[in-house]
Amino acid sequence: MTELSTQPEAPTPTQTYGYPEDVAAQLRADAATIIARYPDPRSALLPLLHLVQSVDAFVSPRGIALCAELLDLSRAEVSAVATFYSQYKRKPNGRYTVGVCTNTLCAVMGGDAVYDAVSEHLGIGNDETTPDGAITLERIECNAACDYAPVVMVNWEFFDNVTPERATSLVADLAAGIPVTSSRGPVVQDFRAVSRVLAGFEDGLVDEGGAGGDATIVGLRIAREHGWQAPAFPGDEGASGEHQTDEPDGEHQPAQTGADGATAAGTEPTGEPTTSEPTTDAGAVPGAAEGAAAVGEEQSSAEHAGPIGEAEATGEHEQTKQRTESGEKGAQS
Ligand code: FES
Repeated sequence: MTELSTQPEAPTPTQTYGYPEDVAAQLRADAATIIARYPDPRSALLPLLHLVQSVDAFVSPRGIALCAELLDLSRAEVSAVATFYSQYKRKPNGRYTVGVCTNTLCAVMGGDAVYDAVSEHLGIGNDETTPDGAITLERIECNAACDYAPVVMVNWEFFDNVTPERATSLVADLAAGIPVTSSRGPVVQDFRAVSRVLAGFEDGLVDEGGAGGDATIVGLRIAREHGWQAPAFPGDEGASGEHQTDEPDGEHQPAQTGADGATAAGTEPTGEPTTSEPTTDAGAVPGAAEGAAAVGEEQSSAEHAGPIGEAEATGEHEQTKQRTESGEKGAQS
């Protein structure tokens, strides 16, 4: 019977946790580089887990132990994070993760047929790896590339508008060690190499491949053809989270209060006007105000900027601002 661990033994700075000494030394050096990028060391946990995967191809017990020591966390705390996100693997991953999207739009466009064809060709199912260690197959819940459905990603690079035949050919090439180039990115690197990039060490390939395709920017093109534009945030000039308070009576909504009375940051409405304070968004979501300001800067310099009504601007602003906050939260979660 496995004995429940008590506190891990006190680490020493040279403890290798089972890594070869040179590997452990390199891991510690790389970890120091990553940790130095954050004001609080524990904030470096996510990239450190990718760093572990760049060596072990999964979040290994020895990697967990090393992260815990480096960040002054318990192994349970590290494991709790590592098991929350699906990008962190709990068993050795193949050289290529092939993720077939079968979520709604991709399913409608044939994603299930793509998945079935790939699964049959490889002889494995979801979250399984081929015996030669080449490919791990995943059924993905939206690759965030719905405009190119059905989509397959390999090590987080997109392959657009796939068919069962194209997807089968793709995995056959991967298994044979033939380089494959993604639809909008570089030649796909293997799992360990990509994990190192995700840990924060660039591979120099960021500018390889195409930019956004027509399906992604068609809305922008149509907007430009019609002279449409997103309204600028009122009071953005020089403001950092504050909102103007000089709107005509009855047209101004309290800064962070939505139509249902709930605040944008999810706090309870007070029922009191809060027209002069900075929004509480910045407090609830660090950087939200700066993000909103940045969005406003982009919008105010938009090619087709033009006048808009104050009331319309305020209403649009509330919607846009909430979307921005939502994005900020998502980015930090
Ligand atoms: S539904 Fe497949 S990428 Fe979004």
